[in-house]
Amino acid sequence: MSALALIETARALVADDKGLLAMDESTPTCNQRFATWGIPQTEEARRAYRELIITTPGLGESISGFILFDETIRQKKKDGTPFLKIISAAGIIPGIKVDLGAKNLAGHAGEKITEGLDGLRDRLKEYAGMGARFAKWRAVIAIGPGIPSRACVEANAQALARYAALCQEAGLVPIVEPEVLMDGDHALDRCLSLTEEVLHMVFDELYAQQVMLEGMILKPNMILPGLDCPEQETVNEVADATVKCLLHVVPAAVPGIAFLSGGQSGELASARLNAMNLRFRKQMPWQLAFSFARAIQEPALEIWRGQEAHVHLAQHALAYRARCNRAARRGTYPAEMEGE
Ligand code: 13P
Repeated sequence: MSALALIETARALVADDKGLLAMDESTPTCNQRFATWGIPQTEEARRAYRELIITTPGLGESISGFILFDETIRQKKKDGTPFLKIISAAGIIPGIKVDLGAKNLAGHAGEKITEGLDGLRDRLKEYAGMGARFAKWRAVIAIGPGIPSRACVEANAQALARYAALCQEAGLVPIVEPEVLMDGDHALDRCLSLTEEVLHMVFDELYAQQVMLEGMILKPNMILPGLDCPEQETVNEVADATVKCLLHVVPAAVPGIAFLSGGQSGELASARLNAMNLRFRKQMPWQLAFSFARAIQEPALEIWRGQEAHVHLAQHALAYRARCNRAARRGTYPAEMEGE
């Protein structure tokens, strides 16, 4: 795979005001979300839900790529058509989560290290052969008393960089996701300084592993106060802090930044992305996009609840939130959505 093909894919993922839909929840996470709405936690229910998502009419107008899970990339529609065929017919680029989850970091209570490097080269080869064009790896950094440790940040940054280098070798665009969690009562400033430090370390490691920045996408958290922090900044304050942080540490060679939603409501995630694009578009060297799971899927899952009769309405809700985020990339949310 040529460098040019990687660059083209990375650019395509953030082109035309579109963004990514993450639907790569691992089986335990998907089951946990299903349990909330009383949906059976079976392979068939997960298949039916993913079929609902990928067959949503018009999703390709707002969504450039789907991030799939290993189970999902191998699944078929009820009529036997492979999911990958439906996805490419919709003009959407298929990608795959390749990390094997965040596990306890030995000797560091409350901290995680993402696993999955062993055997990754072979797994990437298989996914690329199936038609995946990009991959995702999520590192998790928690904020709390005395954490994160330098050991945790360094180990996760190095794993992200080794993953990214292997992806590019296999012809897959790496989505590099270091997530600083919003759990806790810390102030926004703590998230700001820590995220800056984490991203700095991640880019140091990417440089050391000779990852081509033009052929990757960064998937960071927004700069937010902890969920339990009594002071919650305004949408504009969050936008200002987030763009300030990214301008400090993300090289201009990176074609796109696509945020995770991290537990924000769909409305807030869209409003904050909108404020960033509205206020700072001219100052930003990269495209500022989205790669949301919960902030796009939640209303649809709540409507669906495992009922065949609800599929149409759930798809409507899914496409609506996707359009909201396309509008947020243009800086026209929520005005563009009026009358819908
Ligand atoms: P959320 O948008 O729900 O945070 O998920 C994004 C994601 O892909 C996490 O890895």
